[in-house]
Amino acid sequence: MRAASDSAASVTGQQDPGVEGDRDGHGSGDVSAGSLGARRPGRDLCEIADLDLAETCALLSAARALIPLAAGDGPRRSDCLAGAQVLSLFAEPSTRTRLSFEVAARRLGAQVVDFQHDAASSAAKGETELDALRNLDAMGFDAIVVRDRRDGYPGWLCSQLRARVINAGDGAHEHPTQALLDALTILEAFDREPVPGAMTGLRVAICGDLRHGRVGRSNLRLLRTLGAELVIAGPGELAPATLAAEFEVELAPNLDAALEGAHVAMMLRIQRERLPASLQLPDDASYHSAWGLSERRLERLARGGVVLHPGPMNRGVEIADAVADGPRSRVLRQVTLGGAVRMAVLARACGVPLVQTIADTGATR
Ligand code: NCD
Repeated sequence: MRAASDSAASVTGQQDPGVEGDRDGHGSGDVSAGSLGARRPGRDLCEIADLDLAETCALLSAARALIPLAAGDGPRRSDCLAGAQVLSLFAEPSTRTRLSFEVAARRLGAQVVDFQHDAASSAAKGETELDALRNLDAMGFDAIVVRDRRDGYPGWLCSQLRARVINAGDGAHEHPTQALLDALTILEAFDREPVPGAMTGLRVAICGDLRHGRVGRSNLRLLRTLGAELVIAGPGELAPATLAAEFEVELAPNLDAALEGAHVAMMLRIQRERLPASLQLPDDASYHSAWGLSERRLERLARGGVVLHPGPMNRGVEIADAVADGPRSRVLRQVTLGGAVRMAVLARACGVPLVQTIADTGATR
């Protein structure tokens, strides 16, 4: 398999990637330093590095207070983002992330507008995506939630638009709100406060396709800053030693070794849509027997150990039915907490102080 960086779809300059950047393949997480400079601190969220530890803890703490609103079993809605306009720009398939952002925005009183730069838009008349977005920006959107196959695209947009940018997953680069919701799920499962060092003593095994996915990368960055002990595992092409070295994490020789004593097993889907054609993978049954989380393998987890999966799950491949639906699974709880995290991130992007967001919902924690 060729190196991921050979075919990176990263955004490396000020050119319009909609015109210039029609490159094949997945990305490598290689984002230009230039795009970082355009970030507006405290508002944009393009990657985990945009948050310092204090801000991470504040966001997680605000999200925790917003859980009743996100779960639909507390107050039904808040007006703290009343009048705010959020643009939703999802150029890759999505179910939970797109709707989670949308529901989160609506529950806070914001309005959400969807945009697709496709045959039904001005794209059909030859307008570039950037020109279209600049026009939408001129309508005064407060925030734009972006999912795109190009690594670094949300970060690049920060330099082009007035609206604050939230990354909902860019290529194989990052998925910061997924990592935040995973962190919140872990903290809740182990009754930890969202404070510096919150995950000290917790061993987290991230297993499966880390190379072509963005969830593993964002989690490796975020969970480390919170003090977790991290181990990765997967077939060599999907969890290579180079990635373990880049992130300075332990690479387990097999799934059983990764799970031994782990408090969290985070299972990741094979990112088939980003695999190079040359990559040969075992069939589903063989993959499951080597790298799938079965009930028998669960016994290796630490006492109280939990199972996470960002979804969509491929049952019978990286995770068995009995595990996905079993008592250790936090998969649906991740979705609920994801709504709370996205509320906090949207409020931050719209410039509403997190304490005010919480006060406006009437939440008490
Ligand atoms: C993930 C993504 O899109 O990166 N899904 C999600 O946002 N919940 C993970 C995946 O697609 O495997």
